[in-house]
Amino acid sequence: MAQDPMIAPSLLSADFARLADEVQRITDADWVHVDVMDAHFVPNLTLGLPVVQAIQAVSPVPLDCHLMITDPERWAPGYAEAGARNVTVHAEACTDPRAVARDLRAAGALAGLAIKPGTPLEAYLDVLPDFDTLLVMTVEPGFGGQSFMPQTMSKVREARRLVDTGHLQLFVEVDGGINADTIEQAAAAGADVFVAGSAVYGAEDPAAAIRGLRAQAAAARSRS
Ligand code: DX5
Ligand code: ZN
Repeated sequence: MAQDPMIAPSLLSADFARLADEVQRITDADWVHVDVMDAHFVPNLTLGLPVVQAIQAVSPVPLDCHLMITDPERWAPGYAEAGARNVTVHAEACTDPRAVARDLRAAGALAGLAIKPGTPLEAYLDVLPDFDTLLVMTVEPGFGGQSFMPQTMSKVREARRLVDTGHLQLFVEVDGGINADTIEQAAAAGADVFVAGSAVYGAEDPAAAIRGLRAQAAAARSRS
């Protein structure tokens, strides 16, 4: 792993009435994670493309869009065209993951594939060479503030092994329940990118929380 651990605060835990101010509180972050939910793929509804375009226009931090939506083939390219750095779709929602990856990259974004806690990594090994990011969900997608599921770490370890041995070339990202108590196990397992919603926006000083999480991840990684 060449680069420092990356921290991606999730706006799901921010104040939706003040998103322009909320992105200014996390200028130290590597990516800002935007959870798009459609009330079909997950039982929750958040925001869509017009709001992402508005955030993109004011954010000093590159956008990491996590699309928890059905029919990503139809909707995902718009987020890449809006200027997001990374756009992640759910494997479970895709009929042709390779085609989505191709469209995302053609629109100038990194292409991400997310897998839910119960979805095996093996099922997608053949399509992952077309992706730049693998998002291993560490909670069931849909809501912030849930507890980290340690049993998902075997997938992070396996993805790390495949990257380190040159079989895949992608960021390994974890999302859900990442905080000061859990980030070290995710870093030791081999994650590169750490999404944190409540642990950053629930903190009195989000910038300090980001620095603390990044330092913990770096230390755990160097020990492992
Ligand atoms: C859950 C979302 C997460 C969520 C994480 O479906 O994908 O990005 O914001 O929130 P925390 O860090 O509070 O678990
Ligand atoms: Zn997310």
